[in-house]
Amino acid sequence: MQSRFFLSAIGALVLQSIQGLAAPGSHPKQQSRATAIDTSTLNGKFFVGYQAWFRKPGEDNGNSHWTTDRPSPEVGHVGVDTIPDVTGYPQECLFDTPFIKPDGSAAQFYTNDCEGVVDLHFKMMADHGISGAFLQRFYGYINEANGGWDKILRFSKTAAEKYGRGFVIEYDLNGAATSSSNITATYLADLAALSDIISSSAYMRHNGKPVIEIWGMGIVTSVTPADGIAIVTALKRAGYYVILGVQQAWHAELVENQTGYGDVFKLADMLQPWTVGSYDNDNYQDFHDGRQAAEDKNALAELGIDSSIVVWPGGDNHNSNPSSPFNPDSRAHGDFYRKQLVGAVDLKPTFIFGAMFDENNEGTAIYPILHNKDLPTNQQFLGLDDDMAADAYLTMAGDAADKIAAAWA
Ligand SMILES: *[C@@H]1O[C@H](CO)[C@@H](O)[C@H](O)[C@H]1NC(C)=O
Ligand SMILES: *[C@@H]1O[C@H](CO)[C@@H](O)[C@H](O)[C@H]1NC(C)=O
Repeated sequence: MQSRFFLSAIGALVLQSIQGLAAPGSHPKQQSRATAIDTSTLNGKFFVGYQAWFRKPGEDNGNSHWTTDRPSPEVGHVGVDTIPDVTGYPQECLFDTPFIKPDGSAAQFYTNDCEGVVDLHFKMMADHGISGAFLQRFYGYINEANGGWDKILRFSKTAAEKYGRGFVIEYDLNGAATSSSNITATYLADLAALSDIISSSAYMRHNGKPVIEIWGMGIVTSVTPADGIAIVTALKRAGYYVILGVQQAWHAELVENQTGYGDVFKLADMLQPWTVGSYDNDNYQDFHDGRQAAEDKNALAELGIDSSIVVWPGGDNHNSNPSSPFNPDSRAHGDFYRKQLVGAVDLKPTFIFGAMFDENNEGTAIYPILHNKDLPTNQQFLGLDDDMAADAYLTMAGDAADKIAAAWA
């Protein structure tokens, strides 16, 4: 499976500090933010990507994602760099791991196919004013034996309706290949089978159409440009508003058409350049003022294509990919995320995409994770700074959600 992390990099430039969003360590929201969102438009929203794929190892064909190559989490074979803070999770959804915390207790993981987990995750989004989630549907999860992931999708629909959040199905092209299956036919059949999901009052619409995202066009090169054209054309004809998740350097590809994917990008209703790994805390501001403003905002506007800006808190995928260095300081105490949130609101895209709500494999999770002081000592993990509130990143995201909504009001 192709990692979404570090798809590109640019040179180190100048750091500028930006103020304006809640400081790390600020108190959790006192009042409920759970006023139902308007699901008829993406304008001015803040959605998070929801992997929802952390299942108890050994169940549902081993599609666990807690581990790399073993049926159970073991030291040296764990697939995640961050450990969720499971405070408040239903006990029946948790299981012990062999990772021992400083107080002698076992760190626990949750299983995502437990309804209480999905319910709690959408409640966290509602409590912090985050609009909802884009559910990641990998090619291998379509028609998955036991329907394990479909169950999670249905829990998400129920929870989104309950908490007044929106949700969208986001196909991830990883695992798909033009040479081995008809991707267009697979998607059309899948969407027909999920018609009760798409017709939910919580399912997002834009310009009167249900929204679908396809991530990885031009990145997952086993799907050819000609096939990309067929897929996007068919989904648009079927009445969907189509978002493509594409490489950060989509503009050069569209102008120079080196590989042919530029012709696919032009067909999208919206492009969402994937920026995770494209910059760091030191050179973000120049990236924002330069390429992101010129291309991801202005060039898209000229092309008549809507835009979505991706933000991420910093990341780490050392445990799942040991050749990638462990970088405990990539989040810079929240400064990196805060700057990007200010920058994204400033560009006023159609909506902001938070990568990701729960991505522990690549260390980009913004939901509560264990603090440094509580990290197990028998395996290296990335922790939350001890002086930050457990929900500090959710609070920052919620503040940005308020600001992008105000910019569109
Ligand atoms: C793939 O499926 C679509 C939708 O059913 C169909 O229109 C198309 O002709 C198929 N493509 C190929 C190469 O068979
Ligand atoms: C882009 O490249 C593809 C593949 O090389 C080619 O078929 C297509 O005609 C090109 N598009 C344009 C607009 O030149």
